[in-house]
Amino acid sequence: MIKVDKVKKYFDDVKAVDGIDFEVEDGRFLGLLGPNGAGKTTTIRMMIGLLDPTEGQILYDGVPMGKDQIDIKMKIGVVSQHINLDKELTVEENMIFAGKLYHLKKDVIKVRIEELLGLLGLSDVRNRVTKKLSGGMKRKLMIAKALMHNPDYIFLDEPTVGIDVHARKEIWKFLRDYHKQGKTIILTTHYIEEAEQLCDWVLMVNRGKVFKENTSGNLIKEIGEFKIETDEDMYFFDSLDQAHAYSSQLKCIYNISKTSLEDVFYKYTKEVIKWKS
Ligand SMILES: Nc1ncnc2c1ncn2[C@@H]1O[C@H](COP(=O)(O)OP(=O)(O)O)[C@@H](O)[C@H]1O
Ligand SMILES: [Mg+2]
Repeated sequence: MIKVDKVKKYFDDVKAVDGIDFEVEDGRFLGLLGPNGAGKTTTIRMMIGLLDPTEGQILYDGVPMGKDQIDIKMKIGVVSQHINLDKELTVEENMIFAGKLYHLKKDVIKVRIEELLGLLGLSDVRNRVTKKLSGGMKRKLMIAKALMHNPDYIFLDEPTVGIDVHARKEIWKFLRDYHKQGKTIILTTHYIEEAEQLCDWVLMVNRGKVFKENTSGNLIKEIGEFKIETDEDMYFFDSLDQAHAYSSQLKCIYNISKTSLEDVFYKYTKEVIKWKS
């Protein structure tokens, strides 16, 4: 279990993370959902031991994470937000390089490469120089590299930003299948649909704080599964009948639809957020 214990990270006067407190049970597929600038990457960087918190601590099964905590780091795989591949190496060479970093034996590296290339649909491009890959393939290769040492905890920071819908769905399928092996996955995203589709627990983050957490279904149910939107406001209802009954009294233009996670976010923050990068 990972415990994020009252963690803050300040960069001078910027409160990037401003008191975050949550637990990640083993086997969870956890989503940190929030707009750009919410503090997701900073949270991840502290959880993987790249940054020390200004206050608070991160514990893995009770052991505090720190920059020198090699044993815990060996159990972690990280797919960072920005592409960090060796452009001049081939797909396979990139993976061998990652395997060597983790001191894996040659035959283990070979087996892992075959397995991951197959699962991620990269077998046909194994000898292609990385700079010639599409955006989607680069993201897949980053995932493959991060999983070479078969980590227990997998961190993915906005793993599908800037790639086409087709590649995004393939990555989703891969992650869903991989999660079934019992791995703990922590994913950040500003794509609401991504959190809704993949995560079995969602933390809503804004301005360096988690302000709500639950399954995405429960988050929606809590405020009401149907909404009426007018020019002025939004109203939430537990059933379509209730929404219809309410709408019959309205003397303005309105729209009835299903509540989305974005609506949940808006309701609790009352902020209109720019979600796109
Ligand atoms: N190294 C840094 N120095 C100063 N400010 C930073 C640094 N890293 C992040 N920030 C600021 O902290 C806030 C949260 O950033 P970040 O964690 O990257 O958010 P997210 O990943 O949710 O988009 C932003 O306002 C960002 O500009
Ligand atoms: Mg980020």
